[in-house]
Amino acid sequence: MTTYQVGYFVGSLSTASINRTLAKALIRLAPDDLAFTEIAIGDLPLYNRDLDDAYPPAALALKDAIAASDAVLFVTPEYNRSIPGALKNAIDWASRPWGQNSFDHIPAGVIGASIGAIGTAVAQQSLRAVLSFCNARQMTSPEAYIHFSPETFAEDGEVLVDSTREFLTNYMSEFRDHIERVLTVLPRT
Ligand code: FNR
Repeated sequence: MTTYQVGYFVGSLSTASINRTLAKALIRLAPDDLAFTEIAIGDLPLYNRDLDDAYPPAALALKDAIAASDAVLFVTPEYNRSIPGALKNAIDWASRPWGQNSFDHIPAGVIGASIGAIGTAVAQQSLRAVLSFCNARQMTSPEAYIHFSPETFAEDGEVLVDSTREFLTNYMSEFRDHIERVLTVLPRT
């Protein structure tokens, strides 16, 4: 059995992040042939192209972590109807230096949780536009806009509502199939 290495981004720096809880739930519900490693974004300085010839260690570690991944999964909140700045900053670092875009052809998934009713839909559209420019191979269906409540998710990532558990299990199964399809025609080198 091939195991696919999934590097996942949590778009929130908060220690109480509901998106980190969602990430835990996704890992619990994922098929057995997916292995997960978080790609940390909290220690990155702000992107500055003056450093393109001398990437700081945190940015090099970021690019190494993506290179070691078969696929990436973005689990993100919505900030002011867009991508949280910390996550956009990480994407900017990973996309450069010019010609060394870490996301080129990588299988990618996008999901997010919000306390608001639309469940990060606007942020996800914004993120999808960015990932499209970065030439990531996104799973476009199913979409997943998660309205977070403590009645649905326990802190350890257990999903307490059957319909939500089934939905997220299917999302991760589809993501696994998407990874396999993309890597069949675009193997990671
Ligand atoms: C928010 N929140 C929010 N929610 C939403 O559905 N749409 C939005 O545009 C915003 N905007 C926004 C901006 C800022 C700066 C903050 C701090 C929050 C609320 C957000 O969904 C809530 O704080 C989540 O708990 C954030 O996710 P994490 O950090 O808990 O993963």
